[in-house]
Amino acid sequence: MSKKLEDCVTTIPDFPKPGIMFRDITTIISDPEGFKMAVDQLCDMVKGMDIDIVVGSESRGFIFGAPVAYALGKGFVMARKKGKLPRETISETYDLEYGSATLEMHKDSIRPGMKVFLVDDLVATGGTTAAIIKMVEKLGGKVVKIGFVMELAGFDAKNKALKGYDVESLISYPGN
Ligand code: PRP
Ligand code: MG
Repeated sequence: MSKKLEDCVTTIPDFPKPGIMFRDITTIISDPEGFKMAVDQLCDMVKGMDIDIVVGSESRGFIFGAPVAYALGKGFVMARKKGKLPRETISETYDLEYGSATLEMHKDSIRPGMKVFLVDDLVATGGTTAAIIKMVEKLGGKVVKIGFVMELAGFDAKNKALKGYDVESLISYPGN
């Protein structure tokens, strides 16, 4: 039987704290078949769709977003952690389990009317992705597809933080 993407995920119980099942993607990206499957399947999500640009968030979103952009023949835009981008930026602050974080994008990275494919490794609450959506929309772009390698379905981001958007995940785990 051929290998499935799920087979490349490593689950670590009780990391980073007791009761959490950590889904580790490092074993997808270190496996040539796994990495290719993930990138190819993310590209398939927008087959036949009209997209202009791929956007991914620092840092794990870069690992999948950049090869997807390359394979689709599109450019890649980085949503970076605060203070890293050298030119004029737009920023969004969002809540984490403890505290908050800020992501920034170059203001000229999205032009009005651009159709965006947003890629990340994982969706839990959807807070990270919602922050990027806000920035893209403030710049006049339209998020036409959101693709994740994995979702933690227990957070129900599809019906909460990302409600109303076209969201797809390659692998779904029931927990949170
Ligand atoms: C992780 C993951 C997603 C985000 C998902 O990133 O890579 O970007 O959390 O969680 P959410 O849906 O609740 O927002 P993290 O902020 O840990 O940083 P990293 O990508 O640099 O590892
Ligand atoms: Mg991340």
